[in-house]
Amino acid sequence: MWQNGAVTATERSPIHYATMSGFSRHDEHLFVENLPLVEVAKRFGTPCYVYSKQVLLDNLAQLKAAFPKSTPRFFYAVKANSNLAIIRVLCDAGCGFDIVSAGELARVLAAGGDASKTVFSGVGKSADDIKAALQAGIGCFNVESAQEMTRIESIAEADQKMAPIAVRVTPDVDGDTHRFLTTGVKESKFGVPPATALAMAQQAASSAHINFLGFACHLGSQICREAVYISAAQAMVELVKQARIAGITVQHMDMGGGFAVDYDNGSTLDISLAAYDATLADFFSDTPVWMEPGRSITATAGVLLTTVEYMKPAGDKYFWLVDAGMNDFLRPMLYDAMHRIEMVKNTTTPPLTGDVAGPICESADILGRNCTLTAVTGDVLAVRDVGAYGAAMMSNYNSHPRPCEVLVSGDKVELVRKRELINDLFRDECIAFVD
Ligand code: LLP
Repeated sequence: MWQNGAVTATERSPIHYATMSGFSRHDEHLFVENLPLVEVAKRFGTPCYVYSKQVLLDNLAQLKAAFPKSTPRFFYAVKANSNLAIIRVLCDAGCGFDIVSAGELARVLAAGGDASKTVFSGVGKSADDIKAALQAGIGCFNVESAQEMTRIESIAEADQKMAPIAVRVTPDVDGDTHRFLTTGVKESKFGVPPATALAMAQQAASSAHINFLGFACHLGSQICREAVYISAAQAMVELVKQARIAGITVQHMDMGGGFAVDYDNGSTLDISLAAYDATLADFFSDTPVWMEPGRSITATAGVLLTTVEYMKPAGDKYFWLVDAGMNDFLRPMLYDAMHRIEMVKNTTTPPLTGDVAGPICESADILGRNCTLTAVTGDVLAVRDVGAYGAAMMSNYNSHPRPCEVLVSGDKVELVRKRELINDLFRDECIAFVD
């Protein structure tokens, strides 16, 4: 099956409909584009992440269409889903990239991306990270502290290079989101307050090894209120005004990512962003606007397929025990996130209400609570909207090999990450201190 890193299924599915887009239900089947997910599960096994190329492109197009006036440049936040195939699709669609490590930079380059169209965010860049990025010709470092700027400057000096930078600002706007996902308040570990940012910009402007480009901010993730973005733009435009008074040229304004996905119905950009777009166009009429969206591009483009292993009553509760757990998909456990869980093939079995639980030895390992499903042992379920912060946050906890990932386009499917094998788990370990 595994040849040159890819498997292509070109034969036509026995269950076939006219061209379909994204994830849709026809008769008893849930489809990804033109393929019934039941067949994808049969072919690749479970657990398995399945992505739709069309949904990725549609989400990007929707994002572009939401900002007709401010026409931002989009840098896809690789952390949301760093699979090479996903990066490549977005690269071909014209995205730049937002990265947070030398590892993510290597992924972008391996996928055919361009370092000069890449922004390096991240609060704890190591000297090695900085060297690798300078070497590759990074487009911009989003600098998060005065110390980091000094480190970048001295590495650039030693390597005889100019480091392009923007300063990341905490505009002190509460993202009104989960407490783990808010980053723009002054107590946040990210960025610096506007006054510090201004002082850093002044210092950078006179440095022989730093090229000051602009300011950046990122309020957090899963932000549902337009007013929050507008408040941040307000804070940033004040900063730009002060920088200009101080004689500093501001070449771009990076407003970060954060656009929410409605996990109840799997829609992206449900909120209106028209007023935000108009504000950006007005405030930054002569300053290009950059954005770093992650979730809004990839979340709805992915499902996680998992098979019911056992059914189990427990007191007043009922469990479906499935083969995917918190090692495969962490969002429900870490953020109490609710992801719809659906049958990939409807049946006439009477429905039950219960929890969908994984195999991991943690009581928190519940993928879905109070789900109503007709599932029985052997049925395949789809956990919806897991294309962002799903596979990217996988682990081997409890020594489970990580699942495979596949990308679908029309009626074609390619394996874009091999399923790990048991041997992969301890390939890099050895036994020590034995006589
Ligand atoms: N830019 C920066 C500097 C970021 O830190 C992030 C996300 C983004 C852009 C992209 O944000 P997005 O458009 O995806 O909201 N694991 C969490 C999300 C953590 C987000 C971290 N930073 C989750 O599963 O909800």
